[in-house]
Amino acid sequence: MSADKRDEALIAAARAAADRSYSPYSNFPVGAALRFDDGTVVTGTNIENASYGLALCAETVAVSRAMAEGRRGGLEAVAVTGPGAHPITPCGRCRQVLNELAQLGSTDPDILCVGPGEVRRVKLSALLPAAFGPASLD
Ligand code: THU
Repeated sequence: MSADKRDEALIAAARAAADRSYSPYSNFPVGAALRFDDGTVVTGTNIENASYGLALCAETVAVSRAMAEGRRGGLEAVAVTGPGAHPITPCGRCRQVLNELAQLGSTDPDILCVGPGEVRRVKLSALLPAAFGPASLD
């Protein structure tokens, strides 16, 4: 598959995940899809709670699923979709959560921030410069 096709598939997976969002309080469904170096895609969506502050972001759910399956690196690319008119970037906590998985495999994934008519591509290291991560504890 070409790089463009792989990115299209990743974006489609994030959109499909957003359709499964549980976000009755914000009405702001978010989808995230992680692509690994073996081609596997793991998705997540935001899961809210009647105790509003306990909401789980889509990216954090996706990383949690991947790590629970045993993944410890190999993160190549991430697509994030939101419902608004503009692409959304991962929140600060999600940047840190993504960084943990990325640093474990020494990758700097592309983050595809997907809006209705535009995809903004940015490196995780640009979203979270001078990141604190596993190597910081050495
Ligand atoms: N949200 C995410 O899922 N990812 C982000 O990076 C930003 C925010 C969710 C949390 C909440 O359920 C909703 O979007 C509105 O903030």
